[in-house]
Amino acid sequence: MTSVARWQARLPPPVLRFIDRLLDRLAVSMARRSAGIMGAELLKHHIVFGHEDRLHLAPTAVVNNATFNTVSGEIHVGDWVMIAHGVHLVTGVHDITKLGAQRQVTAPFNDRDIVVEEGAWLATNVTVLGPCRIGKHSVVAAGSLVRADVPPYTVVAGVPARQVALVPRPEIDA
Ligand SMILES: CC(C)(COP(=O)(O)OP(=O)(O)OC[C@H]1O[C@@H](n2cnc3c(N)ncnc32)[C@H](O)[C@@H]1OP(=O)(O)O)[C@@H](O)C(=O)NCCC(=O)NCCS
Repeated sequence: MTSVARWQARLPPPVLRFIDRLLDRLAVSMARRSAGIMGAELLKHHIVFGHEDRLHLAPTAVVNNATFNTVSGEIHVGDWVMIAHGVHLVTGVHDITKLGAQRQVTAPFNDRDIVVEEGAWLATNVTVLGPCRIGKHSVVAAGSLVRADVPPYTVVAGVPARQVALVPRPEIDA
């Protein structure tokens, strides 16, 4: 019998049960805390699929756990852009006329750039397929799929995204 077991054997059962419950709670709270920290950290980190040097992020852009696919083009993200959780910016595409292994390996290297202009906001779970340009200060509603250019100061929503509103322009830009 180990010394801990000997020590435990001397304790009355209610005290043992109390210690057991305490240890359970401690374990649960530690597990929750570390899961919370890990989750929060993961939600702040984006992923680049393709060449990292094809992603150009302005220093003032806020980017959560987005995926940037740079397989078939460059991605430019301007100043003050907000990219929410679960956003995918995808330049890569496959040739639908090819089949099997050929479809897997045929992806263009260029011509599908994505540009997100200054101040645009891509809300949660937006997907953007290149080539396209999202105009400055525009808003893409949560869950939308963008497959075409979005003009500046425009709110788009839906799959595929369509204009649903306008963002008021400051006089200087009217
Ligand atoms: C499927 C796909 C390849 C089709 O591209 P395409 O042949 O250029 O499609 P088209 O421009 O001919 O679109 C045909 C119609 O389908 C619609 N459409 C295409 N993709 C759509 C989608 N994902 N969701 C809803 N509608 C879609 C288009 O709006 C269009 O409708 P419309 O004529 O009423 O405007 C492309 O839309 C796509 O989903 N690419 C995925 C890229 C990707 O995930 N890459 C990762 C690499 S593994």
